[in-house]
Amino acid sequence: MKNIQMKAKLAQSLLPPDGFDEFLSEEKNRLYEPKDLRAIRIRQQGGSDAQNFNRMPVQIPVRMSKGGVGKTTVVGNLGSALAMMGYRVLLVDGDPQASLTGLMGIDWAAEELTHIGELMRRCYRGQPVNIEEAVKPIYADGHLDLIAADITLAEADSWMMSAANREFIYNRMVRDCMAFFSRYEVVLIDTAPSTSLLTNALMLASNEILAVVMLDGQSLKAMQVLASNVNELNNAFPDLNLGVHIVANGYHPSYGSCKEALQTLGSCYPNHLNDNILPFSASFRRQINMLDDALSGTVLEREPGTVSAEAVINLAWSLIDRYQIHLDGQWSPVADLRLGEAA
Ligand SMILES: Nc1ncnc2c1ncn2[C@@H]1O[C@H](COP(=O)(O)OP(=O)(O)O)[C@@H](O)[C@H]1O
Ligand SMILES: [Mg+2]
Repeated sequence: MKNIQMKAKLAQSLLPPDGFDEFLSEEKNRLYEPKDLRAIRIRQQGGSDAQNFNRMPVQIPVRMSKGGVGKTTVVGNLGSALAMMGYRVLLVDGDPQASLTGLMGIDWAAEELTHIGELMRRCYRGQPVNIEEAVKPIYADGHLDLIAADITLAEADSWMMSAANREFIYNRMVRDCMAFFSRYEVVLIDTAPSTSLLTNALMLASNEILAVVMLDGQSLKAMQVLASNVNELNNAFPDLNLGVHIVANGYHPSYGSCKEALQTLGSCYPNHLNDNILPFSASFRRQINMLDDALSGTVLEREPGTVSAEAVINLAWSLIDRYQIHLDGQWSPVADLRLGEAA
């Protein structure tokens, strides 16, 4: 578990741009924890911080039909940014490769864990889900939690194959564990590249998946595969209307191919592309050494103030706006979880 302590400058960059000058000039020299930023914002909104048990968190499944494009990097870094901003964030590792679990500092080979596939299986079989036991706290004050994965998550597709309404098993599990999920404002779901039953079920957690596209030719092809995956789901379930929002990753100004890829992306998927583009940067790359403590951690934990950190913060703000993530349950719409027939 990590104790996150932020200097005033970082705290300021994580607060909304207007209306917080007063607080910052007063308390310039102290360190801030995520819960402090939350308290400041809620106080400013004049809201209350009581848990609203009928509220659903905003869920964002992060997808691409290809590995190595930055899905895990985006989930981990966004999760960390939103948590530091004061949101309560749950990360779900939905990839048997378990790189998000590793990025969060958990060695799945050495630790006992209950993954999302097991929670879904218990729910499907009518057994107690006991989701609390599965949660790994990442930040000490409860702002960032993880449902970890390991390679055995790959078994999910075997039992799901014969399961009724299998596309909605994840959503039903969420509904059955509402008291648990209502603790969070946002759930970020990392997924495997393959189109699988598990991945499909996780994609249906939201009305709009977040696609990560690395700015190279291969990723553009992978985007077409993902688009047809989404089309097939929409054809199979006509009420669904699942959308795609795209984040481009790995921009490098001296590679002409990046600009080309970005242009193609913008013209093939107009109105789907987020304005914030994540740069190609060693700050992101470093995270592959995830089990080495000195080298692990997200950009905001390790290198606040860098261009990469700023890009992550800007992306977080734009997604807060797009997905309507509210700090405090008071104004959140109750999401319409799709449960399939015979719920
Ligand atoms: N913007 C970036 N700049 C540099 N390296 C990156 C960037 N995004 C991702 N990487 C690196 O690329 C590799 C694959 O990223 P990852 O997030 O694991 O992809 P995925 O989850 O799609 O398989 C990792 O080593 C990661 O550190
Ligand atoms: Mg990954």
